[in-house]
This record gives sequence, C-alpha cells and structure tokens, in this order.
Amino acid sequence: MPTDAAVESRFVLTDEQARSLAAKFGTPLYVLDEAHLRERVRRYRRAFTSAHANSELTYASKANSTLAVLAIVASEGCLIDVASEGELRAALKAGVPAAKCHMHGNAKSSAEIEFAVESGVGQIIVDNSPEIEAIAGASGQRLDLLLRLAPGVDPKTHAKISTGQADTKFGFNIADGSAEKALLRCLELGLPVVGFHCHVGSQLLDPEAQVSGGQIVAEFAKAMKRQHGFEAKVLNLGGGMGIRYRDEDQPMPVEEYCQALAAGVTDVLAGTSLDPLLVQEPGRWIVGESGVTLYAVSCVKTVPTPEGERTYVVVDGGMSDNPRPAMYGGEYTVRWIASDGRAGQPPKNVRVSGKHCEADTLFDDVPMPANVARDDVLQVLCTGAYGSSMASNYNRYPRPATVLLREDGTQSVVQQRESWDEMFARETVPEDVQC
Ligand code: LLP
Repeated sequence: MPTDAAVESRFVLTDEQARSLAAKFGTPLYVLDEAHLRERVRRYRRAFTSAHANSELTYASKANSTLAVLAIVASEGCLIDVASEGELRAALKAGVPAAKCHMHGNAKSSAEIEFAVESGVGQIIVDNSPEIEAIAGASGQRLDLLLRLAPGVDPKTHAKISTGQADTKFGFNIADGSAEKALLRCLELGLPVVGFHCHVGSQLLDPEAQVSGGQIVAEFAKAMKRQHGFEAKVLNLGGGMGIRYRDEDQPMPVEEYCQALAAGVTDVLAGTSLDPLLVQEPGRWIVGESGVTLYAVSCVKTVPTPEGERTYVVVDGGMSDNPRPAMYGGEYTVRWIASDGRAGQPPKNVRVSGKHCEADTLFDDVPMPANVARDDVLQVLCTGAYGSSMASNYNRYPRPATVLLREDGTQSVVQQRESWDEMFARETVPEDVQC
C-alpha cells in the first residue's frame, strides 16, 4: 500500500485524528478537508487556464451539494452546475448568485424552469424539445442557453454513469439531425442560444472519450456556422475526470488531461473564425479526494464457505451513506485504526459489510489485521463525492454528519447528523387509524 505522502493526492486523516473525530462526533461520519478542497479547485482552474486561456470551470454540485462545499468552491471562482431546483436552491442558500449557476436536468418541470428563469440563473442547458417551448413561454429575463448534445461516444466506464453514447436519454442526438432541428427551432423563437454542451460519462481515468465527445461537438459547431451562420460562443465539454479510489488507480494528472482536451477541440476549430469559451464541469475530481468516511466496527464474524471461510467485518454504516458499491461496484481504499492503538496482526482479506438488512457489501477483499475488533475505526478514502449527496434513510438510519476541517485547524460541523424529529417531520398517521 503506498503511503508515501509525496505521491498521495488524496486527503487522509492520521490514525490519531480519525480516532478522535470518531469519538467526538460519532460514526458514520463524513469528514471534508477545506484546504484540500480549495487546492483541488485551484489546481483544476490553473490547469485548464494554462491549457486554454479562454476557459471557465463549473462545479457539478450533484457530487456534493453541502452548503459549505458550494460556498467554498464558489469562493474559489468556480461557477456552480445545478441539475434540479433543489440543487439551485442549495446554491442560492449557500450565497452563490443565481447568475453564477448553470441549470441542467433532463426532465425539468415547467415549475423548475420558471423558478430558474425568475431567479436569474446564468445559463440553462436545454435537454429536449418540449423544454425549448417551455423556456420560450417562461416569463422573466432572457438568459443564455446551451443545447445538450449526444455525441454518440461510448466512454467505457460503468454503464450507469455513461451518458454520451447514442442510445441515451440525455440531450439531442447529433447524427439523426435532432440537434440541428433543435438549434433551428431556438433561432426561430429568438432564444439566446450561445453554444453547445456534452457530457460523455464519469470516472474517466483518461481524456480519450471526453476529447472525442468535444471534437464531435466542435465539428457540429463548425457545421452550424457553415450551414446557418450560427456562431457558437461557448462549448461546454462536461465533467467526468476520474479519481484515485483504489491505490492502484492512476488517473491522468489534471494538467495533462486539460491539455489533451483543449488541444483536441481547438484542433477541430483551427482555420475557422470560431473561438468559443471552453467550459468543463467536474464534480467528482473537485470534491471526491477531499473527503473520507469514518465507520466503527460493530462485529467481526468468520463463517464457513464452500472454499474455506470468510471473515465479515461489519460496520455501523452502509449503503445508506455510500450506495456506490451496491450501485456501481465502486471500490475504495480502506484503512484500519485500532480503537486502543494496539498493533495490527498480519492482515488477511475480509469483506466489509454494512448495517442494512440485505447483503450490503461495502468493500470486498480488503486486507485487514487479523485482530480487528468491535469499536475499531475504519477510514475510507475518497468519499467526498456522491456520498452525502446520494445518502438515504434506508432502515430509518439517520443520515451522517459532515465535519469540515478548517484551514485554521478548527473543526466545524457543516451538516448535522439527522435528528429523529427531522426523520419523522414529513409524516402523519390519519386520526382514525388505530394501533
Ligand atoms: N456534468 C453533467 C451533465 C453530469 O451529468 C455529470 C455527472 C457531471 C457534469 C459531473 O461528473 P463528474 O465530474 O462528477 O464525474 N452517482 C455516480 C455519478 C453520476 C454522475 C452523473 N453525472 C457515481 O457515484 O459514480
């Protein structure tokens, strides 16, 4: 296991910190590091700007829309990509001006569109034809529109997070003429379309698929200029850059990634008058490696199997605080911390399971000291993205708290553990129902 701090890009708590945070705030617990998060935004922005000066970074807030995260990321100069009215409301609540928000969503309701337009969002990314008509009918000021395009690129990532292929619910297909028709309809309605968007998929360890998607969108922009005199001012190339979930994962450095992406797109546009603003909207890369989750071990069981035996290390969290293993086979790096500081015995591979009433395997084949026991703490790296934002109350477990480690060394609970009152606040029992 590489522990060399010089090559470790991920935020990791020391054993002592992990023990003391778990004791102070309880488990399961999400922990985010402010300095790490700020540095991730700065590094991505620097990398993108040096690859292409006319560029802009938007944070895909679905990855983690905790208000403190939104405020920190926005204070570092990122715009905020929101995919629903709820995410837009979160950004506004965090103090982000609506004009700095870009509104996504593949099934925006008329009410969501009205709310976005009335709030004055900076941009709406249009997914489908009925949306064009709804936006044309919405009251309020005119705002910039991008058309989301389906470039027909298969990103070779998990099927559930692939979005750029032709067989997708997202956006306007380029190849079958839908994208061109959508553009012409917007122009006919006098809607302020400023460019195009594509997002091919998520957890991409190299830029190949995103470059292909960007190039196809750039080709489309060229064709629209040639055929209709339409001048694309913005090309949003989506997000998707992957992170180092497992020690052996080696995502391309963001500097090289941005170079490849910008070069790929500008190559296509060379020799034309088109010089659009290039936008990327990463979520996972910005916040994923800045967060860890702490669990306490509830029990350790070794059971017979046809092949021999298996040890289950059962923790006090599970698919309700991290559904990624169940949904995408997501794998993580897990560190063991003895509750009493005792030394670990030689490791054996165990299955770390959660507390929910089903298999709820969190992490399989994890090397763990043979003397792992109740109350030990497990630190799971890289849980800053798609953890708290996908958490649920399954089995009526309260959602965990998030503690932010501030740059000045203090700790701030930026999201309380859900209370029982909050858990039941939405529910009533009809008066005539007897128990
Ligand atoms: N832009 C659009 C339009 C997106 O749909 C997404 C992610 C992003 C940007 C940001 O992608 P990122 O940089 O975070 O990879 N829940 C899944 C991920 C779903 C991603 C959906 N869209 C997971 O936990 O892996």
